[in-house]
Amino acid sequence: MNILVTGGAGFIGSHLCDLLLLQGHSITVVDNLLLGRKENISHLLNRDDFSFMKEDLLNLPVLKHIFENGRFDMVYHLAANSDIQKGSKDPGVDYDLTFNTTFNVLQCMKEYDVKKLFFASTSAIYGETCDRLTENYGPLRPVSNYGAGKLASEAFISAFSSAYHIQTWIARFPNVVGERFTHGVIYDFIHKLQANPEILTVLGNGEQIKPYLYVKDLVEGIQFICEKACERFNVYNLGSDSRTKVKEIAAMIIEEMGLDARIEYTGGDRGWVGDVPEFKYDLSKINELGWCAKHDSNASVRLAIQKALGK
Ligand SMILES: NC(=O)c1ccc[n+]([C@@H]2O[C@H](COP(=O)([O-])OP(=O)(O)OC[C@H]3O[C@@H](n4cnc5c(N)ncnc54)[C@H](O)[C@@H]3O)[C@@H](O)[C@H]2O)c1
Repeated sequence: MNILVTGGAGFIGSHLCDLLLLQGHSITVVDNLLLGRKENISHLLNRDDFSFMKEDLLNLPVLKHIFENGRFDMVYHLAANSDIQKGSKDPGVDYDLTFNTTFNVLQCMKEYDVKKLFFASTSAIYGETCDRLTENYGPLRPVSNYGAGKLASEAFISAFSSAYHIQTWIARFPNVVGERFTHGVIYDFIHKLQANPEILTVLGNGEQIKPYLYVKDLVEGIQFICEKACERFNVYNLGSDSRTKVKEIAAMIIEEMGLDARIEYTGGDRGWVGDVPEFKYDLSKINELGWCAKHDSNASVRLAIQKALGK
């Protein structure tokens, strides 16, 4: 297929491009490099079946031009704000980067008759709850502007899917880790320890517990869903049944770096406004479709740390 990947120069998008090219698709990436990096896709830039456009999805006339020329069969929409803390401080960030990018993509899909969409959603749409999260869980009450932007995106995608016959696959990701990441707890802890190997300051009490998924498992899961799920509108939690505590991640990083650092906690049950202290997925739906992650949460974290340290 001829595929548009938005946010394809980002952490997850660049791994998705690697997989889609391996499967024989032609890829166009649109990314404004606000949060992504050209290095993530530098190994692809000379290929005939790959092209990169440094453009902003919020620029609708330019985006329309790209759709007009691109004649895409499918869009994988991954572009969004990935700096959740920044989005909590300034609600306009997620309104624009997480929601309006989606709305513009949808408008172009309608206008240029693109009939297949994958959307990168998140556990953050569920909000704060100790319940095991199924895809039918509700009412959905996100507690971050990021989660709200994704939920609003899902709502518009649902309406467009229904009104304009766009086949849709939505995967709600957990915390994703691995090579090329530019944010998240592992990235933060490694950078803090490189700056000061004596002490690691952890936001919250370290008891926050969530599922982590290795990025290559995630992109395989995305493709599995897109190939096997055949409803008009498909929604799946994508992740791992197991979970890892923040204090366990801190200990693993200190061990892998060969340090003897002291861990200091800022206190409270969460890292920042909009963070949730825990969540757990019910993965029956994707398991029944036939997919399971190769690495559990702890193994995903360990592998991501080792890759980040060049091991
Ligand atoms: N990493 C995770 O743990 C995680 C968890 C849940 C969901 N997700 C979702 O997966 C997707 C990819 O996340 P990621 O971790 O790779 O983040 P990322 O920041 O590395 O990738 C997002 C990309 O979108 C681009 N982008 C943002 N706004 C844009 C705009 N207006 N125009 C063009 N490009 C724009 C950025 O430059 C970046 O390259 C996002 O939609 C994110 O919400 C990620």
